[in-house]
Amino acid sequence: MNKIIIAIDGHSSCGKSTFAKRIAQELGYLYVDSGAMYRAIALALLRRNAISNGHIDPDALAEVLASSQVGFAADPASGSHITTLNGEPVEHEIRSPQVAAVVSLVAAQPEVRTLLTAQQQALGEQKGIVMDGRDIGTAVFPNAELKIFMTAAPEVRAQRRLRELQQKGQQLSLDEVLASVLERDRIDQSRTHSPLRQAPDALLLDNSHLSVEQQMQWVRGIIAQRTAQTAAHP
Ligand code: CDP
Repeated sequence: MNKIIIAIDGHSSCGKSTFAKRIAQELGYLYVDSGAMYRAIALALLRRNAISNGHIDPDALAEVLASSQVGFAADPASGSHITTLNGEPVEHEIRSPQVAAVVSLVAAQPEVRTLLTAQQQALGEQKGIVMDGRDIGTAVFPNAELKIFMTAAPEVRAQRRLRELQQKGQQLSLDEVLASVLERDRIDQSRTHSPLRQAPDALLLDNSHLSVEQQMQWVRGIIAQRTAQTAAHP
Protein backbone atom coordinates (compact mmCIF):
# COMPACT_ATOMS: atom_id res chain seq x y z
CA MET A 1 0.00 0.00 0.00
CA ASN A 2 1.28 3.40 -0.98
CA LYS A 3 2.18 5.72 1.87
CA ILE A 4 1.93 9.49 2.04
CA ILE A 5 3.02 12.31 4.32
CA ILE A 6 0.27 14.21 6.14
CA ALA A 7 1.22 17.63 7.52
CA ILE A 8 -1.12 19.29 10.01
CA ASP A 9 -0.43 22.87 11.04
CA GLY A 10 -2.46 25.51 12.78
CA HIS A 11 -3.09 27.75 15.74
CA SER A 12 -2.49 26.86 19.38
CA SER A 13 -4.89 24.47 21.06
CA CYS A 14 -7.18 23.70 18.14
CA GLY A 15 -6.98 19.92 18.50
CA LYS A 16 -4.25 19.19 15.98
CA SER A 17 -2.69 16.41 18.00
CA THR A 18 -5.99 14.63 18.73
CA PHE A 19 -6.83 14.72 15.02
CA ALA A 20 -3.32 13.73 13.88
CA LYS A 21 -3.20 10.83 16.36
CA ARG A 22 -6.57 9.48 15.20
CA ILE A 23 -5.51 9.63 11.55
CA ALA A 24 -2.22 7.88 12.30
CA GLN A 25 -4.03 5.19 14.28
CA GLU A 26 -6.50 4.48 11.47
CA LEU A 27 -3.81 4.33 8.81
CA GLY A 28 -1.16 2.54 10.89
CA TYR A 29 1.13 5.52 10.33
CA LEU A 30 3.73 7.03 12.64
CA TYR A 31 2.45 10.07 14.57
CA VAL A 32 4.92 12.80 15.53
CA ASP A 33 4.04 15.75 17.76
CA SER A 34 6.65 18.30 16.65
CA GLY A 35 5.45 20.77 19.31
CA ALA A 36 6.52 18.28 22.00
CA MET A 37 10.07 18.51 20.65
CA TYR A 38 10.06 22.33 21.02
CA ARG A 39 8.52 21.98 24.47
CA ALA A 40 11.26 19.53 25.56
CA ILE A 41 14.00 21.96 24.53
CA ALA A 42 12.16 24.75 26.37
CA LEU A 43 12.03 22.53 29.48
CA ALA A 44 15.77 21.82 29.27
CA LEU A 45 16.42 25.57 29.16
CA LEU A 46 14.09 26.27 32.11
CA ARG A 47 15.88 23.62 34.16
CA ARG A 48 19.12 25.50 33.62
CA ASN A 49 17.53 28.82 34.51
CA ALA A 50 18.61 29.98 31.07
CA ILE A 51 15.56 32.16 30.35
CA SER A 52 14.89 35.48 32.05
CA ASN A 53 12.86 38.50 30.98
CA GLY A 54 12.23 37.16 27.50
CA HIS A 55 15.94 36.53 26.94
CA ILE A 56 17.69 33.18 26.42
CA ASP A 57 21.29 32.86 27.52
CA PRO A 58 23.17 32.04 24.27
CA ASP A 59 25.83 29.83 25.93
CA ALA A 60 23.22 27.78 27.74
CA LEU A 61 21.25 27.45 24.50
CA ALA A 62 24.29 26.09 22.65
CA GLU A 63 24.96 23.63 25.49
CA VAL A 64 21.35 22.47 25.64
CA LEU A 65 21.22 21.91 21.89
CA ALA A 66 24.48 19.94 21.96
CA SER A 67 23.46 17.78 24.91
CA SER A 68 19.70 17.22 24.58
CA GLN A 69 18.24 14.21 22.82
CA VAL A 70 14.51 14.52 22.37
CA GLY A 71 12.74 11.24 21.66
CA PHE A 72 9.46 9.37 21.89
CA ALA A 73 8.89 6.15 23.83
CA ALA A 74 5.92 3.79 23.76
CA ASP A 75 3.74 4.06 26.85
CA PRO A 76 1.97 0.73 27.43
CA ALA A 77 -0.37 2.35 30.00
CA SER A 78 -1.91 4.87 27.58
CA GLY A 79 -1.16 3.03 24.34
CA SER A 80 0.40 6.22 22.95
CA HIS A 81 3.84 7.75 22.86
CA ILE A 82 5.44 9.85 25.54
CA THR A 83 8.12 12.45 25.01
CA THR A 84 11.57 11.84 26.47
CA LEU A 85 14.50 14.16 27.14
CA ASN A 86 17.79 12.28 27.27
CA GLY A 87 15.77 9.16 28.02
CA GLU A 88 13.76 10.70 30.88
CA PRO A 89 9.96 10.75 30.44
CA VAL A 90 8.91 14.42 30.42
CA GLU A 91 5.44 14.20 28.87
CA HIS A 92 3.71 15.69 31.92
CA GLU A 93 6.27 18.42 32.58
CA ILE A 94 6.36 19.75 29.01
CA ARG A 95 2.60 20.50 29.19
CA SER A 96 2.98 22.84 32.21
CA PRO A 97 2.00 26.54 32.02
CA GLN A 98 5.68 27.38 32.73
CA VAL A 99 6.78 25.64 29.54
CA ALA A 100 3.80 27.07 27.59
CA ALA A 101 4.91 30.56 28.65
CA VAL A 102 8.36 30.27 27.05
CA VAL A 103 8.06 27.68 24.27
CA SER A 104 7.24 30.14 21.49
CA LEU A 105 10.27 32.25 22.40
CA VAL A 106 12.44 29.13 22.29
CA ALA A 107 10.87 28.01 18.99
CA ALA A 108 11.67 31.37 17.42
CA GLN A 109 15.44 30.72 17.75
CA PRO A 110 16.88 29.74 14.34
CA GLU A 111 19.38 27.23 15.86
CA VAL A 112 16.54 25.40 17.59
CA ARG A 113 14.47 25.24 14.41
CA THR A 114 17.38 24.05 12.26
CA LEU A 115 18.16 21.19 14.62
CA LEU A 116 14.59 20.01 15.17
CA THR A 117 13.57 20.42 11.51
CA ALA A 118 16.40 18.07 10.45
CA GLN A 119 15.30 15.48 13.03
CA GLN A 120 11.67 15.76 11.89
CA GLN A 121 12.62 15.34 8.24
CA ALA A 122 14.61 12.20 9.08
CA LEU A 123 11.51 10.73 10.77
CA GLY A 124 9.54 11.18 7.54
CA GLU A 125 12.02 9.61 5.16
CA GLN A 126 9.94 6.44 4.75
CA LYS A 127 6.66 8.42 4.48
CA GLY A 128 3.66 6.88 6.29
CA ILE A 129 3.76 9.71 8.84
CA VAL A 130 1.35 12.25 10.32
CA MET A 131 3.13 15.22 11.89
CA ASP A 132 1.49 18.22 13.52
CA GLY A 133 2.99 21.61 14.32
CA ARG A 134 3.34 25.11 12.93
CA ASP A 135 5.66 24.77 9.91
CA ILE A 136 5.24 21.16 8.81
CA GLY A 137 3.61 21.94 5.46
CA THR A 138 5.72 25.04 4.83
CA ALA A 139 9.23 24.10 6.02
CA VAL A 140 9.55 20.50 7.25
CA PHE A 141 7.66 18.69 4.47
CA PRO A 142 6.93 21.25 1.74
CA ASN A 143 6.18 18.34 -0.62
CA ALA A 144 3.74 16.55 1.69
CA GLU A 145 0.93 14.88 -0.26
CA LEU A 146 -1.68 16.24 2.14
CA LYS A 147 -1.48 19.49 4.10
CA ILE A 148 -4.18 20.64 6.50
CA PHE A 149 -4.28 24.00 8.25
CA MET A 150 -6.46 23.91 11.36
CA THR A 151 -8.02 26.72 13.27
CA ALA A 152 -10.96 27.44 15.56
CA ALA A 153 -12.39 30.49 17.32
CA PRO A 154 -10.01 31.65 20.10
CA GLU A 155 -12.67 31.26 22.81
CA VAL A 156 -13.35 27.68 21.72
CA ARG A 157 -9.62 26.89 21.76
CA ALA A 158 -9.19 28.42 25.23
CA GLN A 159 -12.13 26.37 26.56
CA ARG A 160 -10.65 23.16 25.17
CA ARG A 161 -7.21 23.91 26.63
CA LEU A 162 -8.74 24.87 30.00
CA ARG A 163 -10.57 21.53 30.16
CA GLU A 164 -7.35 19.69 29.32
CA LEU A 165 -5.42 21.55 32.04
CA GLN A 166 -8.18 20.99 34.60
CA GLN A 167 -8.10 17.26 33.88
CA LYS A 168 -4.41 17.40 34.74
CA GLY A 169 -5.21 19.15 38.01
CA GLN A 170 -3.96 22.60 36.96
CA GLN A 171 -6.08 25.53 38.09
CA LEU A 172 -6.12 28.48 35.70
CA SER A 173 -8.87 30.89 34.72
CA LEU A 174 -10.36 30.99 31.22
CA ASP A 175 -8.94 34.50 30.74
CA GLU A 176 -5.42 33.34 31.63
CA VAL A 177 -5.63 30.44 29.21
CA LEU A 178 -7.06 32.64 26.44
CA ALA A 179 -4.26 35.18 26.92
CA SER A 180 -1.61 32.44 26.76
CA VAL A 181 -3.11 30.91 23.59
CA LEU A 182 -3.31 34.31 21.83
CA GLU A 183 0.19 35.31 22.88
CA ARG A 184 1.65 32.07 21.48
CA ASP A 185 -0.22 32.63 18.21
CA ARG A 186 1.15 36.16 18.03
CA ILE A 187 4.76 35.07 18.53
CA ASP A 188 4.42 32.05 16.21
CA GLN A 189 2.97 34.18 13.39
CA SER A 190 5.38 37.08 13.70
CA ARG A 191 8.73 35.28 14.05
CA THR A 192 11.24 35.62 11.20
CA HIS A 193 12.19 31.97 10.85
CA SER A 194 9.40 29.67 9.52
CA PRO A 195 6.46 31.66 10.91
CA LEU A 196 3.06 30.02 11.29
CA ARG A 197 1.37 30.37 7.90
CA GLN A 198 -1.16 28.42 5.90
CA ALA A 199 0.73 26.84 2.97
CA PRO A 200 -0.91 27.86 -0.34
CA ASP A 201 -1.78 24.21 -1.06
CA ALA A 202 -3.08 23.41 2.45
CA LEU A 203 -6.77 22.64 3.05
CA LEU A 204 -8.32 24.91 5.68
CA LEU A 205 -10.21 23.19 8.50
CA ASP A 206 -12.08 25.36 11.00
CA ASN A 207 -13.26 22.92 13.66
CA SER A 208 -15.01 25.41 15.98
CA HIS A 209 -18.25 23.46 15.50
CA LEU A 210 -16.99 20.02 14.51
CA SER A 211 -16.52 16.89 16.57
CA VAL A 212 -13.44 14.72 16.12
CA GLU A 213 -15.63 12.12 14.37
CA GLN A 214 -16.94 14.74 11.93
CA GLN A 215 -13.35 15.74 11.16
CA MET A 216 -12.50 12.10 10.51
CA GLN A 217 -15.44 11.76 8.12
CA TRP A 218 -14.19 14.83 6.24
CA VAL A 219 -10.60 13.64 5.99
CA ARG A 220 -11.03 9.96 5.09
CA GLY A 221 -12.09 10.56 1.50
CA ILE A 222 -9.36 13.14 1.00
CA ILE A 223 -6.67 10.74 2.24
CA ALA A 224 -7.95 7.97 -0.04
CA GLN A 225 -7.83 10.33 -2.99
CA ARG A 226 -4.31 11.63 -2.24
CA THR A 227 -3.00 8.10 -1.67
CA ALA A 228 -4.44 6.95 -5.01
CA GLN A 229 -2.95 9.99 -6.79
CA THR A 230 0.47 9.17 -5.34
CA ALA A 231 0.16 5.59 -6.55
CA ALA A 232 -0.58 6.86 -10.06
CA HIS A 233 2.22 9.50 -9.99
CA PRO A 234 4.76 8.38 -7.39
O1 CDP B 1 -0.58 22.03 21.73
P1 CDP B 1 -0.44 23.34 21.05
O2 CDP B 1 -0.99 23.36 19.66
O3 CDP B 1 -0.94 24.46 21.83
O4 CDP B 1 1.12 23.62 20.92
P2 CDP B 1 2.28 22.62 20.53
O5 CDP B 1 1.98 21.93 19.24
O6 CDP B 1 2.60 21.76 21.69
O7 CDP B 1 3.50 23.62 20.23
C1 CDP B 1 4.04 24.42 21.24
C2 CDP B 1 4.81 25.58 20.61
O8 CDP B 1 5.95 25.04 19.89
C3 CDP B 1 4.07 26.42 19.59
O9 CDP B 1 3.32 27.46 20.17
C4 CDP B 1 5.21 26.96 18.72
O10 CDP B 1 5.79 28.09 19.31
C5 CDP B 1 6.22 25.84 18.74
N1 CDP B 1 6.20 24.99 17.54
C6 CDP B 1 6.84 25.43 16.41
O11 CDP B 1 7.36 26.54 16.39
N2 CDP B 1 6.92 24.64 15.30
C7 CDP B 1 6.34 23.45 15.28
N3 CDP B 1 6.46 22.69 14.18
C8 CDP B 1 5.65 22.97 16.40
C9 CDP B 1 5.56 23.78 17.53
